[in-house]
Amino acid sequence: MRKRLIAGNWKLNGDWTLCQQMVSMFASHHRQHDIVVCPPAVYLSRFAELIAAQSSQISVGAQDVSSEISGAYTGEIAANMLAESGVQYGIVGHSERRQHFAETDTQVAEKMLRLLAASITPIVCVGEALEVRDAGASQALAHIEAQLLPIIEALSESTSPVSLDGICIAYEPIWAIGTGRSAIPEQAQEVHAHIRAVMQRYADADQLRILYGGSVNKDNAQALLAMQDIDGALVGGASLDPQHFAMLAL
Ligand code: PGA
Repeated sequence: MRKRLIAGNWKLNGDWTLCQQMVSMFASHHRQHDIVVCPPAVYLSRFAELIAAQSSQISVGAQDVSSEISGAYTGEIAANMLAESGVQYGIVGHSERRQHFAETDTQVAEKMLRLLAASITPIVCVGEALEVRDAGASQALAHIEAQLLPIIEALSESTSPVSLDGICIAYEPIWAIGTGRSAIPEQAQEVHAHIRAVMQRYADADQLRILYGGSVNKDNAQALLAMQDIDGALVGGASLDPQHFAMLAL
């Protein structure tokens, strides 16, 4: 049985007040899923301290990490710095970073390895643009597979073997992000099953958690999570409202 993971990606939103509200929201109730909240980097260590102080059920996630370990890279944050700040999960390869910051598949794979080396669980994002989806489901599957191959290659070359229960993949169709137009459950399931099959080439993927992301909200989450290979959600907009997010994470 794979334990579901519900992750909130705040992007460039939220403030310290929202951090506090989120911690309180998850302080009293026991949740059956793993809950991860990814606020902007400046809040991470204070957020982690507050979670520990209030015995809140949240794990702390970062939205990005440097592909470098140290050196003259102004503005970057290394994986070991995130680990020291209490970070347990890290998003890499979000489509917004690929699009606005020109991140390549190779950099995404490097970032994943940096997180693994710092004992942080990577959440590796993949997903196709609308024109790829419109060209047909098989085009979309091929696109996802091409994004996964550098990931598999990096894992294969890693000095210590990586078990797939220590990483998450998030399928986020770009056309579904922030548009209010989620993939329909069967459409997402088809991609998730394909992701599991592709990752199986590297290692046993039975325990790999594959999250769906793209306009997840309280009205569509249940149907998506009911699918066999959908093991959780990566939530943007709806994660900025503690009550709404808590409904997804019940
Ligand atoms: P959304 O964002 O839920 O606002 O569509 C998801 C994401 O980009 O991770």
